[in-house]
Amino acid sequence: MQSYQEMSREELLKEKTALEAAYRKYAASGLKLDMSRGKPSAEQLDLSMEMMNVLNSNMDLSCEDGTDCRNYGVLDGIQEAKVLLGDMIECHPDNIIIYGNSSLNIMYDTVSRSMTHGVMGNTPWCKLDKVKFLCPVPGYDRHFTITEYFGIEMINIPMLPTGPDMDMVEDLVSKDEAIKAIWCVPKYSNPQGITYSDETVRRFARLKPAAKDFRIYWDNAYGVHHLYDIDQDNLVEILAECKRAGNPDMVYKFCSTSKISFPGSGVAAIATSANNLVEIKEQMQVATIGHDKVNQLRHVRFFKDIYGMTEHMRKHADILRPKFEMIIDKFECELKGRDAGTWIAPKGGYFIAFEALEGCAKAIVAKAKKAGVTMTPAGAPFPYGKDPKDSTIRIAPTYPTLDDLKIATDIFVICVKLVTIDKMLESKSVQQG
Ligand SMILES: Cc1ncc(COP(=O)(O)O)c(C=O)c1O
Repeated sequence: MQSYQEMSREELLKEKTALEAAYRKYAASGLKLDMSRGKPSAEQLDLSMEMMNVLNSNMDLSCEDGTDCRNYGVLDGIQEAKVLLGDMIECHPDNIIIYGNSSLNIMYDTVSRSMTHGVMGNTPWCKLDKVKFLCPVPGYDRHFTITEYFGIEMINIPMLPTGPDMDMVEDLVSKDEAIKAIWCVPKYSNPQGITYSDETVRRFARLKPAAKDFRIYWDNAYGVHHLYDIDQDNLVEILAECKRAGNPDMVYKFCSTSKISFPGSGVAAIATSANNLVEIKEQMQVATIGHDKVNQLRHVRFFKDIYGMTEHMRKHADILRPKFEMIIDKFECELKGRDAGTWIAPKGGYFIAFEALEGCAKAIVAKAKKAGVTMTPAGAPFPYGKDPKDSTIRIAPTYPTLDDLKIATDIFVICVKLVTIDKMLESKSVQQG
């Protein structure tokens, strides 16, 4: 396939005319397709419907230690839920607090507590002139919304195929006491699907931060969300690694069953050191008498154990794999060799990131929108919604049906090609002019 860079002006114009005809056809057909948010499809949600039957009015709703889950009590979650989520994120149940229905909510709460009360006796962040977070980019927009909300300055850290640029992380963290944390999605990252390498995790665990209250916000949202049975990414477990490296308190691990059972009605948790847990529980007991134990019990009775959860995730993968593979196949067929962008074929998670030519992302997303395909706004995976290169587009393949996704991908590819050709024509006329 010939690269657009190598084509003459005439060849590009000819290609453009043909693509425009195809684009017009789609645009006229009144499509309404959504590739914008990483939600599971209805078919995936159906996989968990049996969860609605595992508890009923004839049942004993006591958990293993005899606690009646219908009543108040148990601040940090029932033991069997700690065991299940502990296995899910490879942590000892003693290191876990089970919260409510959302891990994002725990992250918000963690930042909020650090702002008002500080971290382990250190000055509350709200009393400092400046607080900064490192933000590997592209990343999860809602992380950045939390830090922006609290007025925390965000510093972009480029993502490499091995994870965040650790030379930069080590350098900045060791020099600047105002840097209090880093956002991380270490496995099947949102949006690139990158899993941090062993070396990256080990370097994280051995950071020497200038700030005594520096913390790694390790959002393991996609820890068990593999697309393949055998070909899976592996992530070194960071809590144990931090302990080994003499930094036992440096990490907060977050997780939930949002994209395992029902988003918004799942179970979320934090895993961290004993010292951090004490501090968190001090605040927690002021905020709540305890979270939803009935839902915790429902999840445990449905999944039974980590094996049950793994089997369940296989069913999700069977639905998701064809969607991811279809998109990657179309990119390989239509875009590879055209020099119109790059992408990584993820082995898990919820997203594919398309890296368009610099200055093209907004135009591609706008063009797709006009033809009836809604994408995540360009810039969203960056702090303040600003992609310095205007090149990253997040694709969320999970929600639409495979048939709709095929059409949406065809339209997306046409938009990529058209915007890229326009860019080439522009640079050719500049060269000529
Ligand atoms: C990286 C990441 N973290 C957290 C969440 C939200 O998790 P929860 O539903 O547990 O709040 C998402 C959802 O898309 C996500 O992609």
